Amino acid sequence: MIGFMGCGKSTLGRSLSSSLKLTFIDLDSFLEEKYFRTIPQIFAEEGEDAFRRKERNVLEEVSAFDNVVVATGGGAPCFFDNMELMNTAGFCIFLDVNIDSLISRLENAKTERPLIKGKSPEEMRVFIEGLMQKRRPFYEKAHYILKGDEIHPEDVIQLVKDEMPDHTAN
Ligand code: S3P
Repeated sequence: MIGFMGCGKSTLGRSLSSSLKLTFIDLDSFLEEKYFRTIPQIFAEEGEDAFRRKERNVLEEVSAFDNVVVATGGGAPCFFDNMELMNTAGFCIFLDVNIDSLISRLENAKTERPLIKGKSPEEMRVFIEGLMQKRRPFYEKAHYILKGDEIHPEDVIQLVKDEMPDHTAN
């Protein structure tokens, strides 16, 4: 599951994995456990480049797993050849939630996100619109795209059952 911060990757990934009886992996949590630090700590202490290298490392590790549903961080598809790695390792679904919904979710979110921390609603809109424009070409390399104001677990489950029947026959 890929897409911008706040699009619902982790929530939808969790529902999908429980419906398909697969293991769910949140790449950000996996990274934090492996490096014994939170993402805000890594950004603050080592900077974004170091975070991206760690993100790439965990992505390579997770790409070798079978029978898992993975939700990546919003930036993961947009660095190195991560998108190619993901597309080769599995099926990528881009959750394409519109900007207004992303902003309202991010404003109400409890998770600390270093890239948007401390931004006013106006700054956040400008930032998200600009970043989405840069990231969209990467996201759009996904095998499947689900679009909406809100994407529901049933939408994702249906897509996977329709498009990947060989992988959901359990
Ligand atoms: C990031 C998104 C975050 C996390 C990090 C950077 C990004 O994950 O990986 O703060 O670059 O968009 P979520 O998309 O789960 O918020």
